[in-house]
Amino acid sequence: MANKDHQTGSARKDWNLRAREDFRNAIMSTVKGEKGEEEFRRTGVEDAKVIASFFKGRNMSDWRVLEYGCGVGRLMEPLSRQFGKIHGIDISDEMVKLGRQRLKGSQFSFHVLENGSLPFSDSCFDLVYSMHVFQHMPKSSFRRLMPEIARVLKPGGLFLFHIMYPYTLRRKLQAVFGVDQLSFRHFISVISEKGQKRVETYRRRYYTHGQIEQILDHNGMRLVNRVRLAPKKRYLWNLAERA
Ligand SMILES: C[S@@+](CC[C@H](N)C(=O)[O-])C[C@H]1O[C@@H](n2cnc3c(N)ncnc32)[C@H](O)[C@@H]1O
Repeated sequence: MANKDHQTGSARKDWNLRAREDFRNAIMSTVKGEKGEEEFRRTGVEDAKVIASFFKGRNMSDWRVLEYGCGVGRLMEPLSRQFGKIHGIDISDEMVKLGRQRLKGSQFSFHVLENGSLPFSDSCFDLVYSMHVFQHMPKSSFRRLMPEIARVLKPGGLFLFHIMYPYTLRRKLQAVFGVDQLSFRHFISVISEKGQKRVETYRRRYYTHGQIEQILDHNGMRLVNRVRLAPKKRYLWNLAERA
């Protein structure tokens, strides 16, 4: 059964399990266990540099910032050197619990996503950013979340988000026809003991440029920058501005 909504319990249950099994590996698949802590932190510093590079030359020290799908605060920690206060929200209360243990200080505030709506007032953030999250959500959930992101952004506020770009013809077909995964490996994992549900909350969703622009436009946002990074060029950063 597909996970129909980003607020349903199945996503929370799966991510809580991953948090308990090995949160570092669930967040960064290249890292394993406690031994990977240093590498885990290093990836956070590197990814934070990329995020900050989008705002070069701006004074960000008093920005109010939200990370959507913050995990244990891998990015919040290094980014706190640039931004004022950083709020992080995540569907997994286990990730949030770990985040609270790892990051102390009044500049950090963790929240658990309870019913799909963001527990913040209208127009209160200068920036919302998200990395390695939307690829794991059903597209319908991403579409349902977007009005909430737009609502909490100040007019002129920025939304920086990371998605999977369909970098091959096969991925393009997946993106356009809504078939999320067309691989033998996926087929095996679905019928294996892991079961369909856990795959549903981890597999990759791809978005074409047109799909992203349409979603942004629908929510009163305008794309201002788009950058493809990383090996294989499958990661795409989009920067949008709220009208
Ligand atoms: C791969 S981790 C990335 C964490 C963090 N953004 C980072 O880069 O370190 C994905 C995170 O998104 C959270 N997540 C998954 N689906 C979500 C959803 N629908 N709404 C909010 N958070 C979600 C997971 O619990 C997990 O902490």
